[in-house]
Amino acid sequence: MPVTVLVVDADPRSSGDWEALLSDQGYDVIAARTGEAALTLCTSVRPDVVLLCDLLPDMHGLEVCRRLKADPRNRLTPIILHAATADFSDAARAVGAGADDFWSHAPTPWEALSRLHSLLQMKTYIDEQAESVLLSLAQSIEARDPFGGSHGTRVSNNAVRFGKSLGLGWNDIDALRIGGLFHDIGKIGIPEAILYKAGPLNPEESKIVMEHPIVGEQICAPLKSLRHALPLIRHHHERLDGRGYPDGLQGEQIPVTIRALQIVDICDALTSDRSYRQNLPLPSALMILYEEADRGWLDGDLVSQFASLVVGSEGSIALGNRRGLGSPEMANWGASDPARRLSRSGA
Ligand SMILES: [Fe+2]
Repeated sequence: MPVTVLVVDADPRSSGDWEALLSDQGYDVIAARTGEAALTLCTSVRPDVVLLCDLLPDMHGLEVCRRLKADPRNRLTPIILHAATADFSDAARAVGAGADDFWSHAPTPWEALSRLHSLLQMKTYIDEQAESVLLSLAQSIEARDPFGGSHGTRVSNNAVRFGKSLGLGWNDIDALRIGGLFHDIGKIGIPEAILYKAGPLNPEESKIVMEHPIVGEQICAPLKSLRHALPLIRHHHERLDGRGYPDGLQGEQIPVTIRALQIVDICDALTSDRSYRQNLPLPSALMILYEEADRGWLDGDLVSQFASLVVGSEGSIALGNRRGLGSPEMANWGASDPARRLSRSGA
């Protein structure tokens, strides 16, 4: 993955010098002339490092630094603050604003590249450590599951298998791998009394459960290596008809990777024991997926392709033809807890 540097400098000549130097070294460089532009670009482009001049037309570099670091998504992004004026030499203020390095004078090109490289090495190390902590967190969620756990690992493996069968590219396959592992990491904040409650959830409890995609996205957002999977983590409970959560996305707003992950996720949840029901046999689970597609919740073509993958094309056709006939499992599905059926919180 190429390293992207955001150069924030109001002076076109100074900015051009930095852009030329960094581009020569193989970095992807984007430029911003104002603090507001830097704040916007950081959110949309997610650079690996920010080279920030203190003298900007709309706000001081310290303010930009403070605001960038206040956003959890940028907390691990290194910011180098460099002084354009002779009177700004307060390194303590720069550190207080969250800067990772402060240049009180213009460094030589060699010195600048060397310090930039060191910061990026440190960032890579921190990312690796943070990713392993998140993996442990995801595993701890599964380990406390009294009904066997390993849901995320199975979803990850099966989503990759499904994605490959669909002919998706490497980036999408990796998003499915990561999304499968971490899609429910936001459940870390849900009390076990709610997560493993045997009876129906009350509206307040349902609200807490339905926050887990947003919490999960916030937990994973600072890590660059997880960035391409963030939409899968946030949107794995959306529905094609717009009645899902948290954002009510509909139709084409939901990419194929998310549609595929949803199907794998729901199938695994249905075929696993839960506190409020026993596991269903695979054919019954597939019929529920077909039923959810008929209701406009899931992508029907993808459900058929998934069924073909797991039970073969003949089995898939037979199940597809039987949908709507009302097997006992389907008739009872979610009947004891409409909120859970609605939110598919078992997934
Ligand atoms: Fe979930």
